[in-house]
Amino acid sequence: MNRFLFVLGSNWQLSLAELDNFLKNSQIRGRITDYSANIAIVEFDDLHKNKYYINDLMELQYLLGGCQKIAEIYDFVDIQTTFNAFPLKVEKFKLIETKRREILKVINDILPRIFPKIKNESIFFAVSIYPNLYDDTYYSDVLVKHFLPFLNKEIMALLNEIGAKKSLYYRYPEENIKSGNLNPIFPHNVIKYGLFNKDRAEVIFGFTEEGFYIARTITCDDPNFKKKTDEERPFKEFKSAISPKLALIMLNFLNLFEEREKKKILDPFVGNGTILLFALIEDFQIYGSDIDDVKVKKTLRNLNWLLNELEEPIPYMLNENIRQANINKLSSIFDKEQFDGITTEPELGPFYNQKPYYTEIKKLIDSKLKPIFEATFREAYKVLKPKARISIVAPIFSTVDGGDLTLNIEELARKNNFTLIPLLDLNRIANKSNQKLQFQRKHVKAMLDAKKGQIVKRKIFVFEKEN
Ligand SMILES: C[S@@+](CC[C@H](N)C(=O)[O-])C[C@H]1O[C@@H](n2cnc3c(N)ncnc32)[C@H](O)[C@@H]1O
Repeated sequence: MNRFLFVLGSNWQLSLAELDNFLKNSQIRGRITDYSANIAIVEFDDLHKNKYYINDLMELQYLLGGCQKIAEIYDFVDIQTTFNAFPLKVEKFKLIETKRREILKVINDILPRIFPKIKNESIFFAVSIYPNLYDDTYYSDVLVKHFLPFLNKEIMALLNEIGAKKSLYYRYPEENIKSGNLNPIFPHNVIKYGLFNKDRAEVIFGFTEEGFYIARTITCDDPNFKKKTDEERPFKEFKSAISPKLALIMLNFLNLFEEREKKKILDPFVGNGTILLFALIEDFQIYGSDIDDVKVKKTLRNLNWLLNELEEPIPYMLNENIRQANINKLSSIFDKEQFDGITTEPELGPFYNQKPYYTEIKKLIDSKLKPIFEATFREAYKVLKPKARISIVAPIFSTVDGGDLTLNIEELARKNNFTLIPLLDLNRIANKSNQKLQFQRKHVKAMLDAKKGQIVKRKIFVFEKEN
């Protein structure tokens, strides 16, 4: 069938937008044909025709910040069959039995494709169910409590019938199954349990509004590596730093997918260097600056630490490429039209433990942040190549007495000849009937990256330099 299932990151909207942008603009073309708040179904134009497509998918997994796993789809069961086989309220026993048998027939047919050799083998499998939305009662009450045990038991029985010497399944904690509160197996456990081996597999049952896709995981995120880079570097501010995943997603929105080793990326507010660390991992040529000389030194120390960890040589002129400078002076330390892209998180103001007052934030925005963001666009225009992009974080402040407040970054960008690029192309995404899954024009102009209750939220924007 040549369709693939992508398990999205926790910020599913941003992950979906990142994936769609990649499929639209990189050399690996394709389309998202269906999605939920956890998965995207992708049809590639011709990736699957390549004999080594698994390598391409592994590379894609490495590149994308918002992708947890990629799985190959073997079949699909429509939602009506699923509801009939596993209803919220049990009434028609006969229908349940017939429909469950239909589902088992589908699974039975694909087992030999998931496990190339079953006879006399010891097989281990983990079932992962990704619901349409985690807060659906259908997930907690039916899928976790009934569908999961059914799948575990029946797949084990089918494998034994085909002639497996032994078959075992991954056991989720019993208390999670009882409470209906369950997360599918995490990527680090997929790696730990060797679920890419021939006699082992993670079998994904990925739900959308249309039904469920049955797929086998072929690659997954290696969170240990990103975590190590983020947490073990010599300098880091845990309270406020941008996450590795967000740094990767923002870098991908620059649309620089090919020959990255030739592309020059700038972060003019390096801080402790998170964005540059991940830009280095993604093979870019890195440049940076910050008003604070101590930050510049910390970024350099972090970069040297990472290069040492990766056992890679120090890039030519690294020390000269990361420099102390006020954003106002950016174009006097870097060349005109030097950069292929800018990814940055400018000054966002102080770290708040409690919600601030409206007047305090209004003053912060008008007297401090607005001039910084304005200078960013003015200077970015000078140092960026024509048509190059900037992906940038803008803060949204939650105040005690005046709701949410932000600065009008779109106007500042427009005044400096930058065009807003919506993060998701609505023409390429089929709309969903559940409101929580819908995208409207206002949702895709920029996207939030924030935890519940966060006082300063990040909003991600992408702009393109006009000619
Ligand atoms: C929010 S931090 C960037 C954090 C970074 N993304 C990280 O993960 O470590 C913003 C940085 O902007 C710098 N900064 C503040 N005002 C500046 C200005 N006018 N010009 C250049 N840098 C400035 C600060 O020193 C600070 O390091």
